Amino acid sequence: MNRERLVAAHAAGRSFADIGAMWQVEGAIALAAHAAGATRVTAMDLMPPTPRIEASPVRFVQGDLHDEQVMAEVGEHDVVWCSGVLYHAPHPLLTLERLRSITTQTLLLATEVLPLPGRFAAFAPERWMHPSRPDPLDPARRYGNWFWLPTPAAVRAMLSATGFTVTDEHRTGRFHRTYVAS
Ligand SMILES: C[S@@+](CC[C@H](N)C(=O)[O-])C[C@H]1O[C@@H](n2cnc3c(N)ncnc32)[C@H](O)[C@@H]1O
Repeated sequence: MNRERLVAAHAAGRSFADIGAMWQVEGAIALAAHAAGATRVTAMDLMPPTPRIEASPVRFVQGDLHDEQVMAEVGEHDVVWCSGVLYHAPHPLLTLERLRSITTQTLLLATEVLPLPGRFAAFAPERWMHPSRPDPLDPARRYGNWFWLPTPAAVRAMLSATGFTVTDEHRTGRFHRTYVAS
């Protein structure tokens, strides 16, 4: 399913947070949620806000999603969208716990996956995925590194282990899945 359509279907009449909202998209999903009728919208990222986001009705929080104080500032939202972040996280269960702490109804989690059966994850898979890239786990790249590439079943298991119930899984690409969880 197209991600703007998925977001619009969940955001109307609900509060909405976009976690990891900026790189290359400048809060486009947060803005789509606002356009779809979300009651209030927060975008957060390590990156600073751009003029487009600052000029919009979207509230912006800058910081690390793993930082409890930052997530307290983001606050609870009915619907949380987090796309392209999980495989950049060295401690993905901690990442999901932080998402759990701000999600009151629905998590929409989009992530790259290793499309194989079974419940496991490849570690530091970036050069395998993109042979032209530099060596994986360059400390200078911090969260730009790809730490893990979990199978779809591993993502479901991690969501379950952090208190989510998966209600839907969309195949959004050969190496990509979008999970709906409550
Ligand atoms: C691959 S981009 C995905 C951007 C967008 N969500 C999308 O799907 O097109 C990852 C985004 O998450 C942000 N990010 C990565 N780790 C983060 C963290 N620990 N805390 C907050 N933002 C993070 C990055 O700065 C970047 O904007």
